[in-house]
Amino acid sequence: MDKAWSPNSWREKTVIQMPNYPDSEALREVVGQLGRLPPLVTSWEVERLKDYAAQASRGQAFVLQGGDCAENFDECESNNIANKLKILLQMSLVLLFGGKKKVIRVGRFAGQYAKPRSSDLETRGEEALPSYRGDMVNNLNFTEGDRIPDPQRLLRAYERSAMTMNFIRSLAAGGFADLNHPEYWRLDFVRDESLLKEYQEMVNALRDSIGFVESIMGSGDSEISRVDFYCSHEGLHLEYEAAQTRQVPRRDGWYNLATHMPWIGERTRILDGAHVEYFRGIVNPIGVKISQAIDPAELVALARVLNPDNEPGRLSLIHRMGNSSISDGLPGLVEAVKESGVEVVWICDPMHGNTESTSEGVKTRDFDNILGELQKAMDIHRECGSRLGGVHFELTGDDVTECIGGACGLTESDLSTAYTTQVDPRLNAGQALEMAMLIAKKMQGR
Ligand code: PEP
Ligand code: CO
Repeated sequence: MDKAWSPNSWREKTVIQMPNYPDSEALREVVGQLGRLPPLVTSWEVERLKDYAAQASRGQAFVLQGGDCAENFDECESNNIANKLKILLQMSLVLLFGGKKKVIRVGRFAGQYAKPRSSDLETRGEEALPSYRGDMVNNLNFTEGDRIPDPQRLLRAYERSAMTMNFIRSLAAGGFADLNHPEYWRLDFVRDESLLKEYQEMVNALRDSIGFVESIMGSGDSEISRVDFYCSHEGLHLEYEAAQTRQVPRRDGWYNLATHMPWIGERTRILDGAHVEYFRGIVNPIGVKISQAIDPAELVALARVLNPDNEPGRLSLIHRMGNSSISDGLPGLVEAVKESGVEVVWICDPMHGNTESTSEGVKTRDFDNILGELQKAMDIHRECGSRLGGVHFELTGDDVTECIGGACGLTESDLSTAYTTQVDPRLNAGQALEMAMLIAKKMQGR
């Protein structure tokens, strides 16, 4: 690996999954503007998240990462964002209750606007147009005008990310929800009586604990009323990421200040590729998605390149293998990384290995497979003398019908009721809260 690195050294490598802009001068102009706009996050927040991630690798904290598969410009609105924060906050309290350790909330938001695609072109009938690559690049509508990559969208994405962060920071600073309010813990998605009773008991115990903490700390003062949210997205569009990569006074190194924790996707984690080149040189905590397709030696080589100073909290390995592949795929990787001595945080993404299509061709995921992969992940790490440091979900705070199963009993025939995702199916608020309860239960050894 070539040691010389700069925010632009990735340009010398093979770049995949990037749009083809017809007007390179217009792109250069936009990238210049992006580089002059103020940052979305600060270096001290980035460092704090790295410290917390290091705590997760030692078993003193747990990472909850979640949000949309793809954000889109139209859904940058107050209810959507507040609902997403609310479900992440609820889940984090349930996990805090189950795991008895700090939960670090990391949203897939404020920049999750670029998507990898399996093909450059999408063909419908006689017509082939550039594939939709996320709102940062083009528009989902199937017309030439919508699909030709437009560099101005990079600025729109940045502005919407800034608006999202601004709203999130204000809500988080203001104690945006009264957790003692019964409305906050509605369990009306649970149809089964005995399950309802069990969940109700957990919520009651949780509310008692919140009340207890608030009575000692004084409400408004506790960890519970002052919540932190960090942001993350797939660092796919390297023009966007590089434009935000800066040096700051009194600190060494280059920070990506467009997000706290960017990650490399499964498709772009190529050892000698442009994405790994860009990521190896920034100082943020970073993630890399891995499937069972990676072999142990390749993973160790990748981890060494991405964590050159072997810093705790620097590198999260986010495995996404699927409920039927994790038992074969994960143990060898965990053993190899352990043996290499490279510091990592292990996070399980139980979504991307469990995507399936219904007989009607609708993309969905089964609640039981998602839960199954997570439970196996927890067991495998324990058996290998390792530790699962966090979970990564695609979810929304809204009542969508995209994944089947869970206590709400969604079936394939319900999927058309509220299927709004532009890319992958997400857990709805009820399914997400239930998932957190089931993980909490497993954490408690129940
Ligand atoms: C995603 O997180 O939406 C994604 C594309 O995941 P992966 O890179 O793991 O396939
Ligand atoms: Co996805």
